[in-house]
Parts: sequence; structure tokens; C-alpha cells
Amino acid sequence: MSRSSRATETAAAESPARSAGLLRDCTAGDAAAVSAIYNHYVERTTVTFEEDAVPVEEMARRIVDGSGRFPWLVWEQDGAVLGYAYAAPWKSRSAYRHSVETTVYLRADATGKGLGTRLYRTLLERLRPLGVHCVIGAIALPNPASVALHERLGFVKIGRFQEVGLKFGRWLDVGYWEIRLP
Ligand SMILES: CC(C)(COP(=O)(O)OP(=O)(O)OC[C@H]1O[C@@H](n2cnc3c(N)ncnc32)[C@H](O)[C@@H]1OP(=O)(O)O)[C@@H](O)C(=O)NCCC(=O)NCCS
Repeated sequence: MSRSSRATETAAAESPARSAGLLRDCTAGDAAAVSAIYNHYVERTTVTFEEDAVPVEEMARRIVDGSGRFPWLVWEQDGAVLGYAYAAPWKSRSAYRHSVETTVYLRADATGKGLGTRLYRTLLERLRPLGVHCVIGAIALPNPASVALHERLGFVKIGRFQEVGLKFGRWLDVGYWEIRLP
């Protein structure tokens, strides 16, 4: 499953009054912006079960390792990265090779404006030609925005593990959503 690098979309035509946005592949050079976006949620919320901020060098390693096989995308606007989405293998056993888990995060001030939908939809389009069959979204609950995003894109809820995480002194549930790509 290899992929080619390319910018995929600009938003200039949609709204001439707003500056253009660019959906493009993520590189190690985006690690500082990506870790700043992610660490906001690591340190303040339960949407991720990581508890320690991810250093820029570690994020760069994750981007380089991860993007070799599946897409890592960013949304850039006015030179700033506002969000990112990527896919990673669901499990390492070989028969799982057509299944991935997806992740999407936006800068806190960029949510609720359709960027998550745009990033995620493009990610799914990029996964299809790679032979991906099943896409899984794991959502720490509650997270109404993420649930709405997944269901808007056609994901179906599969189940809910109860109290599988402990963060900020609270037990947390995780729901799983799935879509099979035609
Ligand atoms: C989850 C996230 C990626 C969604 O992206 P977004 O750009 O905010 O969402 P969109 O504007 O594209 O809207 C997608 C859907 O979510 C709904 N939505 C957006 N924000 C919402 C909120 N705060 N509460 C409830 N629904 C919300 C929208 O109405 C839309 O649903 P609809 O089509 O049924 O109307 C974004 O909010 C985010 O980064 N959140 C913090 C990090 C996170 O939780 N990541 C996911 C981890 S599983």
C-alpha cells in the first residue's frame, strides 16, 4: 500500500472573501504545529487517552513513520496548520492489513466550521485506492462533535467499551464506529 504525495484541495473558490485553505500531505516540518494542536487535548481533555504532552521530535517521528504507509493530511490556512487527520493500521496481525484506525484533530479555535468533515472526507477518499476495506474510529465518550462527524460520513456505531480508560481521576468509555469502503 503505497501512496503519492500531493495537495488535494483549496477552498478559495468556495468563499472568495476568505483566504484560501490548502489540504495537503503532512511532513515532519509540521510537527510543531501538529503537536501544539494535539497537546491542547492531551493536557486539558479526555478526547485522547494520552496523558503526557508529545514532544515535537516524537511527533515528527510519528508523522514520518506513519505517513510512509497511510495518509497524514493537514489543513493549512494563512500559513498556519489548523488541523490534521491520518490513518494507521488497526492491528499488526497480517490478516488485519485492510483495516485502519483514523484520527482527526483541529486547533481548538478551528472547530465547528466544517474543516473536520473536509479533512476526514479526503482521508477516506485517499484510503480507498490503497486497498483499505474497513475504517474504524475510536471515540472516547462523550464527544458529540466526533460522533456527529463520524455518523455524517456514514460510520455506524459498533459498540462501547465501558471504563477502559482512567484520566483526570475518571473512568472513561470508548465507542467504536466503523465504515466499510466500497
Ligand atoms: C471532532 C472534530 C474533528 C469535528 O470537526 P469539526 O470541524 O468541528 O466538525 P464539522 O464542523 O465538520 O461538523 C461535523 C458534524 O459535527 C457536528 N458538530 C460540530 N461541533 C459539534 C459540537 N460541539 N457538538 C455537537 N455536534 C457538533 C456538526 O453539526 C456536524 O454534524 P451534522 O452534519 O450532523 O450537522 C473537531 O471538533 C475536533 O477537532 N474536536 C476536538 C478533537 C477531537 O475530539 N477529535 C476526535 C477524537 S475521536
